[in-house]
Amino acid sequence: MNIEWTDTFLTGIKKVDEEHRVIFKLMDNAYRVATNDGASEADIMMEFTNLLTMVSKHIDTEERIMVELNYPDTETHKRQHAHFMSVLHNAVAHTIAGKSADDKLILFMRNWVACHVMISDKELGLFLSL
Ligand SMILES: [Fe+2]
Ligand SMILES: [Fe+2]
Repeated sequence: MNIEWTDTFLTGIKKVDEEHRVIFKLMDNAYRVATNDGASEADIMMEFTNLLTMVSKHIDTEERIMVELNYPDTETHKRQHAHFMSVLHNAVAHTIAGKSADDKLILFMRNWVACHVMISDKELGLFLSL
């Protein structure tokens, strides 16, 4: 299975769209390593760390934009981000504890990100375009 970014995810905010593209790529990398029996724990750890770092950077980008613009749904959107970060942190903690990365968890992440981008991030893009 491929975890691919497509134009349907465009929000119209250039920096946000660029970062989403990278996040999809990193989720795909994490999925590949988690479903590859030959991957070492270090490989899995590296992919999860890269994903976590990028998602964290991206959340900062979006939340800065929302605060700067006095975006009315900032608090709801921030709560969604916080929930996702806690899932990601759990995934990394499991990996550190020596358990193998769970491909189902990555598929959950992929679906969560896709839904979040399609609804909440696109709403932010629409607000910015008004
Ligand atoms: Fe986003
Ligand atoms: Fe978001």
